[in-house]
Amino acid sequence: MGAITVDAVSKVFTSRTEKQVMALREISLEVKEGEFVVLLGPSGCGKTTLLRIMGQLEAATVGTVTIKSSKGGGDSTIGFVFQEPTLMPWRTSEDNVGLPLELTGVHKKDRLRRVGEMLELVQLAHARRKTPAQLSGGMRQRVSIARALVHDPDVLLMDEPFGALDAQTRDMMNIELQRIWMQNPKTVVFVTHSVAEAVFLGDRIVMLGINPGHVHSITEVNLPRPRTMEMAESQEFRELVAELREQIGDVQRSDYIPISV
Ligand SMILES: Nc1ncnc2c1ncn2[C@@H]1O[C@H](COP(=O)(O)OP(=O)(O)OP(=O)(O)O)[C@@H](O)[C@H]1O
Ligand SMILES: [Mg+2]
Repeated sequence: MGAITVDAVSKVFTSRTEKQVMALREISLEVKEGEFVVLLGPSGCGKTTLLRIMGQLEAATVGTVTIKSSKGGGDSTIGFVFQEPTLMPWRTSEDNVGLPLELTGVHKKDRLRRVGEMLELVQLAHARRKTPAQLSGGMRQRVSIARALVHDPDVLLMDEPFGALDAQTRDMMNIELQRIWMQNPKTVVFVTHSVAEAVFLGDRIVMLGINPGHVHSITEVNLPRPRTMEMAESQEFRELVAELREQIGDVQRSDYIPISV
């Protein structure tokens, strides 16, 4: 597993019109080993940008991100799950999940064993020979989760993975993801703009403010695990959701104006 340190990260984008926009300003954040951290905030506050910088898909303009692997030595490894499943349409579940291992030259026998374990974990062993078109949206996202976990990454980064699913499937996927995570502990950073999803899943919720993106607040969620749908009806849960919704409202009404630099 990995611990993530984000140290004073700022990000400036230069658009085609040559106007520069500051998307993130001086973000500092620690994600502990095995922790489930949720990034929450209004549209455009920089959640995706921060996640992409954490995953080294994007460079910070200023500041650093360090991922320390508990395995020691070598580079840390990262698994990604995006809003769209990004599966290869002509590949079966098995071959999609195995792709990262194929690319790193893992021997076929070892690969199939590991892929089998991952498909068991996401409860899709029965669908291993199906292609994405033959799967439901929730099943496709479970294949994506299995693919992201197949090389046992130090950290798992998820950008609104359930944002395109209907409400009922989304609730089910939240329960599933919690089960997968408890069975296969990982350091997770999960982006959403659903407050209820954040409270259901997170150990800590990092609320980002907008223009430019900055850390507005950090909230610990002390509800016991496994969290259940009944728990989501409890007063404690509802109060936390209400409080965070109010914060998002404050963030959106704040005096910040977009900064051009
Ligand atoms: N490649 C880019 N070039 C220019 N500006 C960008 C680029 N990517 C993001 N931005 C800007 O940076 C800001 C943050 O965008 P980002 O996509 O990170 O927000 P977000 O919080 O993920 O939003 P959403 O909830 O809608 O997904 C926005 O103002 C966006 O327009
Ligand atoms: Mg986004």
